[in-house]
Amino acid sequence: MNPAVEVVPVFEDNYSFVLTLPGQDRAIVVDPGDGEKVWCFLEEKGYGLEAILATHHHFDHVAGIEFLCDKMPVDVYCFKGDLDRVPRAGRGLEDAEEIERGGLRFRTLHVPGHTSGHVVYVCGDALLAGDTLFLGGCGRLFEGSPEQMFHSLYDKILPLPEETRIFAAHEYTVHNRSFCLSIESENAALREQFNESKALCKKNLPTVPGSLKTEKETNTFLRCREPAVVQAVQAKAPDTSDDPVSVFTAVRAMRDGY
Ligand SMILES: [Fe+2]
Repeated sequence: MNPAVEVVPVFEDNYSFVLTLPGQDRAIVVDPGDGEKVWCFLEEKGYGLEAILATHHHFDHVAGIEFLCDKMPVDVYCFKGDLDRVPRAGRGLEDAEEIERGGLRFRTLHVPGHTSGHVVYVCGDALLAGDTLFLGGCGRLFEGSPEQMFHSLYDKILPLPEETRIFAAHEYTVHNRSFCLSIESENAALREQFNESKALCKKNLPTVPGSLKTEKETNTFLRCREPAVVQAVQAKAPDTSDDPVSVFTAVRAMRDGY
């Protein structure tokens, strides 16, 4: 069953996500950076809090957990290795573990790179991507190597169905796609997506969710095996080999300075 996913903007450019079984009122909250804001959203909607899932331990994803748990003590899930750095976490998950809460099934994928304990959650057609996959980008490498992030994206996320809806945890889309265009200026689908995301942001609307199909066509970080991308990257960074990991490493380094 596909979940209803509602987007709660928090802080400057973060998103928390509230998942419910369509027609039901028990909500699973993913990455509550701001507990008060998420709690107000739940109250407004008349949802009860069923459980909290954290993708990783960074403050802007977990700072609201204590507030929510004080309001309603619920299970907090995260990667098993992150139990000591996610507040109130009591349920440590393995890679590829499945849990069921509020009538929804979640599958964990361990995707090290942004942090060593980062997980994403697959629930029906929704991917709660945290800071691993953004629309037009991927997370910075705080605790992982480019090679680790490459395998997280290419081996764990790319094999998901193309219709997967990508719920990224930051509104970085316009800047990300502007960067992608600096490498793939001839990519017409990318230019179209860039313009669409600009129009949404102008109206103060979230660009999420995106689709995995669109990301495969437009997100340069996922296109490091495409000959046109390899050539474009090698033109800018001549030390880059044909190996997709080498291309990915160069793209990540270029984005860090963009
Ligand atoms: Fe993060």
